[in-house]
Amino acid sequence: MRSLLLWAAREPRLRDTIPRMRFAQRAVRRFMPGERTEDAFAAAGRLQDERNGVLFTRLGENITALAEADEVAAHYSGVLEADVERGHSQGVVEISIKPTQLGLDQDAEACYEHCDRLATLCAKSGTWFWLDMEGSDYTEATVALTERLLRAHDNIGVALQAYLKRTAADIERLLPGGPAIRLVKGAYDEPQDIAYRDAGAVDANYQALAVVIAEAAGRGQARLALGTHDVGLIERVSTIAEARGVDRAALEVHMLYGIREDQLRRLRDEGYPTSSLVAYGPAWYAWYMRRLAERPANVIFALRQMLP
Ligand code: FDA
Repeated sequence: MRSLLLWAAREPRLRDTIPRMRFAQRAVRRFMPGERTEDAFAAAGRLQDERNGVLFTRLGENITALAEADEVAAHYSGVLEADVERGHSQGVVEISIKPTQLGLDQDAEACYEHCDRLATLCAKSGTWFWLDMEGSDYTEATVALTERLLRAHDNIGVALQAYLKRTAADIERLLPGGPAIRLVKGAYDEPQDIAYRDAGAVDANYQALAVVIAEAAGRGQARLALGTHDVGLIERVSTIAEARGVDRAALEVHMLYGIREDQLRRLRDEGYPTSSLVAYGPAWYAWYMRRLAERPANVIFALRQMLP
């Protein structure tokens, strides 16, 4: 089921037809507040009122012409401006972008320049610039891009995937630059020569990697975001980290909008800094298929939306 849904995420004909279907439009609302930037800001206000940090990501990936990256960059610079004008006592939203949305496929240098400019704007707004991690074809380029951005900025974050066998080495490579690392399990279909495919092995690697980053965070050399809804895993990491003298305040928990919000609130009340990643925009198809692949029960929920 997971592989089938991840195949469907990459299938261009389905990408054109499914988003037009009413049941799919209804089903996706479970994971995103709406397609418009205003919808994202409305959700941000509610989440921030609950003492929760917010990251914005406008959905889209693999642009086909470099000019589209200009539009993406302009969108985010507008979001940063609007957010500062809006003013919220709980702080400024952070932004999280896929490198292929900023032209990585077309021109790596142009992609770097967009990231560099957006990171500068983020710094002026007092917030962070994050890179999402895409499929393994882009891992090396994304890590190299992060390394370069870290040399010029001190507000750079990147998502790293615990299912990839290379991630321990990537963490070691990035830590000297003082990164923020959002550790996630990984959402793509990767072959077993480069990735752990067994859930237990992914969780074990996640735990080991998270403890390494937590220790660096405890020394003030990194920022750690546990990007997972797996509360048991978060608690296991926390127990080990706290035994090694890392304060809970250094263990941020980031979850996706609409998923396990009750657990996020509980963790916030127990002293973890928490944030929600709010996705929005019309290009939700591939992203939504990855969310379905994470939990087959979501497919049943989506199919139920076909009923009157
Ligand atoms: P796991 O899949 O084990 O789920 C734990 C529990 O959480 C499940 O039992 C279920 O109850 C609940 N749950 C998980 N997914 C759910 C869903 N879709 N719907 C409903 N319930 C669900 N990946 C990537 O490759 N690159 C990236 O940049 C990012 N970025 C990112 C940011 C943030 C903030 C998060 C939380 C996740 C990502 N991911 C990601 C996705 C990540 O790789 C992974 O696919 C999902 O988080 C699902 O795995 P969990 O860690 O939640 O664990």
